[in-house]
Amino acid sequence: MKRGGSDEAKRRAGESAAEAVEDGAVVGLGTGSTAAHAIRALGRAVGSGHDIAGIPTSYQSRHLAREVGIPLTTLDDDSPDVAIDGADQVADGDLLKGGGAAHAREKLVDSAADRLLVVADESKLAESLSVPVPVEVVPDARRPVADAVRELGGDPTLRAAERKDGPVVTDNGNLVLDCDFGTIGDPAELAASLSALPGVLEHGVFVGLADEIHVGTDEDVTVRRPDA
Ligand code: A5P
Repeated sequence: MKRGGSDEAKRRAGESAAEAVEDGAVVGLGTGSTAAHAIRALGRAVGSGHDIAGIPTSYQSRHLAREVGIPLTTLDDDSPDVAIDGADQVADGDLLKGGGAAHAREKLVDSAADRLLVVADESKLAESLSVPVPVEVVPDARRPVADAVRELGGDPTLRAAERKDGPVVTDNGNLVLDCDFGTIGDPAELAASLSALPGVLEHGVFVGLADEIHVGTDEDVTVRRPDA
């Protein structure tokens, strides 16, 4: 799905992060159009002799990794040295993710990695997080979680599928509520409140996980370090 800026800017960001991956690394493979550029670049590195194994975060990243020849492993067998993942919005080191409904596995893999390299075109950068927060819920929890989100000050919308009647069903068999909280003053507090709701599998607020943000433009790429 098309999100964010130009494909050229996304390519620069993705390839920059892929270059930072060392030979021998186990790499978490994020989801989305920007992470896909990193996966293709890692595939080329494998083709030229690098020993890299990938842990996918979605059906999409698994399929692409297989296509470009990256050997796959799992969290059962390996721990990622590094993960490369996209974002829908970036404010300092905090991220909003889940535009592709893959945020549950993304958070699992990104958190398990020693380092998270975020890849984004510059249209994703913001002063504060403000885009609607994707919340993955088990199907029976849709209404109770929607009510609880309203009590937290949010406006939930069940994500509808495109080219399929009815809602989006995630890779885990669940539903997604896109919850508009306006500008999020305290991402950590909102993250904790959403995580505490019964029936929520995962939400798209990623607090303090990013080690580097590779920001692509049509002309170049820069690397930001949130704590620097
Ligand atoms: C997948 O659910 C998301 O978290 C993506 O990583 C995010 O939406 C970024 O996607 P793009 O790189 O396609 O903008």
